Amino acid sequence: MLDKIVSEDVDFIVLRVGRMGEVLEAQKILVTGGAGFLGSYVCDVLNRLSASVVCVDDLSSGRLENIDHLLKSEKFVLIKADVSSFESNEKFDYVLHMASPAVPEDYQSRPVETMKVNSIGTLNMLELVRKSDAKMLFTSTSEVYGDAKILPTPETYWGNVNPIGVRSCYDEGKRFSEALIMAYVRQYSLDVRIVRIFNTFGPRMRADGMYGRVISRFVDQALSKMPITVYGTGRQTRSFCYVSDTITGMLLTLLSDKAKGEVINIGSPHETTILQLARLIKRMTNSNSRIVFKRLPQDDPRRRVPDIRKAKVLLGWRPLVKLEEGLRRTIEWFKLRGDA
Ligand SMILES: NC(=O)c1ccc[n+]([C@@H]2O[C@H](COP(=O)([O-])OP(=O)(O)OC[C@H]3O[C@@H](n4cnc5c(N)ncnc54)[C@H](O)[C@@H]3O)[C@@H](O)[C@H]2O)c1
Repeated sequence: MLDKIVSEDVDFIVLRVGRMGEVLEAQKILVTGGAGFLGSYVCDVLNRLSASVVCVDDLSSGRLENIDHLLKSEKFVLIKADVSSFESNEKFDYVLHMASPAVPEDYQSRPVETMKVNSIGTLNMLELVRKSDAKMLFTSTSEVYGDAKILPTPETYWGNVNPIGVRSCYDEGKRFSEALIMAYVRQYSLDVRIVRIFNTFGPRMRADGMYGRVISRFVDQALSKMPITVYGTGRQTRSFCYVSDTITGMLLTLLSDKAKGEVINIGSPHETTILQLARLIKRMTNSNSRIVFKRLPQDDPRRRVPDIRKAKVLLGWRPLVKLEEGLRRTIEWFKLRGDA
């Protein structure tokens, strides 16, 4: 069953996408990575908009429970497969290529698979889009900017990435995907749009992992009265966007004529230090957990904040859910789920 908190988020996304979403009715849409955190939200919204969804996911980091309520729908099919070796003779109206490990633990434990899904996997999806004459959305990441020297970071910034570091399988994988997409756009005039997503949080985030998803880990630690682990001094910053805002931005990018062939930052422009975040979550959960400090992982960016002027101008999009409201919803979801 779709739980109440996610269901309200889906309603909010559908409302914000508005009449633009009507074109998706009865359309055939391939979603790679649809069992993951963001992908499962996308599948729920598309189902609500009466689209026919084929979800391709190898369940390497996604969870079946994110989408099991959709399996009952005749408009939803799950194909358990690796996108890097996926072929299809079917034609699609839209392809949303979201499959990729996204958390440091996931991509650092499977760096080769991460590079494959962001090279061969993206190539497979581009060929399918070309054959189908479909529209495509690719989920890139703020990590393409690496340890950015320009903050807030605009789409025109080229990045400061360590090409051989432990994060490079992800950063450079996504950069290769973007370059490959632009090659297809230039050579074959494909209709592809790229979103560079900054840190997103909300229900369905996995709480496991050492330092990967900081909000779900802090919430999990605070609720289970375990020490809250901050890496480094906690002065490094991130800007956290609630999931319903991110998914709205993604879908507006897919649907807006002005976004054709564009790369658009989607994220919150409000920077928070990791230590402020730890204290806020401790307070909001009424937890007596201690905050402890551990060594900062290699190549961890010091600050990350997007310039979202392009999304505002092209899509009329900006995040609406305040950090505390998003945290309240996330904490409530984790409590109801009994994860902690
Ligand atoms: N969540 C964020 O804050 C964030 C930020 C920037 C970019 N992104 C991007 O958004 C997308 C979704 O991220 P998420 O947070 O939902 O991560 P997630 O790990 O929850 O979801 C990724 C999904 O892709 C699937 N997958 C991975 N490799 C696959 C393969 N080779 N074949 C088929 N399926 C495969 C996983 O099983 C999982 O269901 C990713 O492309 C990620 O890079 C997310």
